[in-house]
Amino acid sequence: MKNVFSFPERAVGCLSSGGSVSTLIAFTAARDKFKIKNEVVPKSVVYLSEQVHHSTQKALRIIGLEDVIVRYIPLDDCHKIKPDALIALIEKDKAEGLHPFLIVATAGTTDTGTVDPLNDIADIAAQQKLWFHVDAAYGGFFILTSKKNLFKGIERADSIIVDPHKGLFLPYGVGAVLVKDGNAVLHSHYYTANYMQDGQNEELLKSPANLSPELTKHFRGLRVWLPLKYHGIEPFIACLEEKLLLVQYFRMKLAEQGFCLGPEPDLSVSYFWYPFATDADEKNKLLMEEMHKDGAVFLSSSIISNRFVIRMAILAFRTKKETVDEAVEMIDRCLKKVMLNS
Ligand SMILES: Cc1ncc(COP(=O)(O)O)c(C=O)c1O
Repeated sequence: MKNVFSFPERAVGCLSSGGSVSTLIAFTAARDKFKIKNEVVPKSVVYLSEQVHHSTQKALRIIGLEDVIVRYIPLDDCHKIKPDALIALIEKDKAEGLHPFLIVATAGTTDTGTVDPLNDIADIAAQQKLWFHVDAAYGGFFILTSKKNLFKGIERADSIIVDPHKGLFLPYGVGAVLVKDGNAVLHSHYYTANYMQDGQNEELLKSPANLSPELTKHFRGLRVWLPLKYHGIEPFIACLEEKLLLVQYFRMKLAEQGFCLGPEPDLSVSYFWYPFATDADEKNKLLMEEMHKDGAVFLSSSIISNRFVIRMAILAFRTKKETVDEAVEMIDRCLKKVMLNS
């Protein structure tokens, strides 16, 4: 994974249960590197997009940073962080005597499939000397596809998380975290005890127990290694490319049915809504309910820019063109029902 994301050899990492636990590990390292403790907490500032996955805010709370100041960075029409707005916020906070320490960008947001401008954000983090974290839990492995250019700058992050149980289609329970500063990770995770004395090893950074909250842990390595060993990486890349094509196909079909679409997605998640002349939110909710009752294909909803929208998140290895065709037929059926009843 260090090779995939062009991380240096000195970076450390471990396999975790998933993105949420990986985030805890990365944020704890950032917290300890910047010595964010006790009375410093309420003056410390974290910069997020409102499109971050909720495991970000949850991790801050769990690791004792509930009282940090969270700044939501303005986004552009494609839901990407605006770098100029980010600099302005940081400079203002510094001028007011606050302690900015962490910027979180996302490479593949949950609701909109957006990749933030990673290289621009890396520039800002470097200039301002802040920790740069990239949540690539969902989108990270798309770096292996034709979308590679979108990921420029990810190699400059201080920490990244990426989930083989998402982008490599593996069984649930396999996430990964990479952190460049091994000492920052050891600070909070290295511990020993008398009964551990026979297991001491000079190479502290090689033991997963020193890099994560877990001691006894599941043999996740096998679940990642074996399929890669058996199939090679090519079928995984082909499968990711397929998901990119499927979301485009889905959007084309929906446009033909008269749906409004969210902006062109960077990856394989997008959203749509029907432009009902009146009570659009209420009627799109009814449409969603009809789809759940129908049950042919599962789609979920969200709220984006204060609008009720329906999400198409295409990443399951079982999602094929036939599945999208089935979804399009289902949507047509359900739309007719909603129109008939309203
Ligand atoms: C962008 C992103 N980050 C983090 C997570 C959390 O990952 P997990 O469910 O593996 O804890 C998810 C999805 O669940 C996600 O889409």
